[in-house]
Amino acid sequence: MMTSSHKGRRRRRFGSIAALVMCGLASPALADEPWAERTQALGAIAEMPAGVLSKDDLETLITNGEALFGAHFTTLDGVGRPRATQAIDPTRRKHPREQVFFRTAGPDAGSCAACHNQPAIGGAGDFVANVFASEGFESADFDSLDPQFSSERGTNHLFGAGLVELLAREMSLELQSVRSKALSQARAAGSAVRLPLEAKGVDFGYITAEPDGSVNLDELDGVDTDLVIRPFSQKGVMTSLRQFTVNALNQHHGMQADERFGARWTGTDDFDGDGKSGEISAADISAMVAWQATLPAPVQMIPEASGWAEAADRGEASFTDFGCTVCHRPALPLESLSFADPGPFDLAGTLNERQVSSKAVYDIALLDWAGSLPRDEKGRVLVPLYGDLKRHAMTDNQIDALGNELLSQRFVDRNIFQTAELWGVGSTQPFGHRNDFSTLDEIILAHGGNGREARDAYAAASDAEKSALIAFLKTLVIVP
Ligand code: HEC
Ligand code: HEC
Repeated sequence: MMTSSHKGRRRRRFGSIAALVMCGLASPALADEPWAERTQALGAIAEMPAGVLSKDDLETLITNGEALFGAHFTTLDGVGRPRATQAIDPTRRKHPREQVFFRTAGPDAGSCAACHNQPAIGGAGDFVANVFASEGFESADFDSLDPQFSSERGTNHLFGAGLVELLAREMSLELQSVRSKALSQARAAGSAVRLPLEAKGVDFGYITAEPDGSVNLDELDGVDTDLVIRPFSQKGVMTSLRQFTVNALNQHHGMQADERFGARWTGTDDFDGDGKSGEISAADISAMVAWQATLPAPVQMIPEASGWAEAADRGEASFTDFGCTVCHRPALPLESLSFADPGPFDLAGTLNERQVSSKAVYDIALLDWAGSLPRDEKGRVLVPLYGDLKRHAMTDNQIDALGNELLSQRFVDRNIFQTAELWGVGSTQPFGHRNDFSTLDEIILAHGGNGREARDAYAAASDAEKSALIAFLKTLVIVP
């Protein structure tokens, strides 16, 4: 039996529990009960992985990383960011948000896998999983779909992402060595020296060094002025899986990584004001990176349907003849499969190798799928990415379907995108940076600007040739 005073007490108690839950502090289940509504995998790796990892250690890390990538984070974990925006540089909101989730400026999802799931966890996303990406680094509080405030992007897949990051690191070192060479030649010669910037056969314009030690970068093409290749995001502006993971955790889930939002950088251990500190440790980020970095590369698989193999062969030849391979390079050579995390090129706010006493190093060759990667006569792995990790202008006066964004991002103009890697494209419909082309034919015809010549060659081809090209592209699939 309940008296009115009991009821009153009970209401008050519920009231205060509701308030606590909103700040992420309490739950009916105790945090250490196995059914507690928190992510068990968080904090499961107590120490930062360091040194050369054995296959067993790597597998443990990967298992935890997958659990975190698939986890539906909760308020007990620290989901939500009432006082912080999605911006990459920790930025406070002017007015605290009342609701946890918000479709435009986020947090917009419970888990990474909520978007990255096609054809399996770590994959791409359909249009419904699009994200509203702001300029990125600064304020990002908006409640409109208007492209004045954000650029709408489709979710790309992460299969083979470790190889992509390794390629980018080797290419950055190659470009930076051209800079050193130009500088020392200019000093020795006492006059300006202009050298072509080339990495793995991809050309990035020219650098001119002066004898006084300055460099002129006006002729750079498709890469940042620090000569670091940033292989992630469709704009080609994100350096590493580690940086992207820390960004994504904050943007999509309001889960704040210590290495960026902790007291060291922000002076407080609850920057987002949700009552939770230490939401996600550097070791947990390492696990998420390890899982993504070791996802198998997409492969070519030819369906048994009659005629497909012959059509795909002819289509592959046209892919070269039309000039598609100028940007979509069938393969880039990789010297080493040894992945170091934290990596060499991250800037403040993402852990880099200079900030740890010992980085973790793992050999992607330990994984079964890596054994089937082709190698050249020098023993280098030929990474079949169908990309060049370079940015290109994709619109012109006649063809500007890919010019639908209004914002530049990190100084990269609005109509410039990094060549989409086509490995896996047979599994990741729809297409284009906004995921709004339902067929391959449409996205090919949407190539303007630097892609115009190849696009026109495709457009002028016979229906049979076009169809063969599609048959080829559809053989590039993700087999989880
Ligand atoms: C709401 C959907 C959504 C969620 C949730 C999401 N992503 Fe993504 N992800 C995207 C979109 C969209 C892009 C492409 C961004 C761009 O091009 O600017 C992307 C790109 C990426 C990339 C870069 C891939 C490349 O090749 O450029 C990585 C890495 C990544 N996401 C990791 C994560 C991680 C880790 C999480 C969870 C912490 C996560 N994502 C959660 C939508 C999502
Ligand atoms: C100048 C470089 C360049 C050339 C040449 C080029 N592409 Fe692309 N391609 C790109 C870029 C950049 C993108 C990303 C465009 C976007 O979504 O903004 C892209 C995207 C694509 C996509 C969509 C991928 C996805 O997952 O959404 C396909 C398919 C494609 N290209 C096929 C082709 C074919 C076929 C040809 C030859 C007829 C070709 N491309 C020629 C640069 C190029």
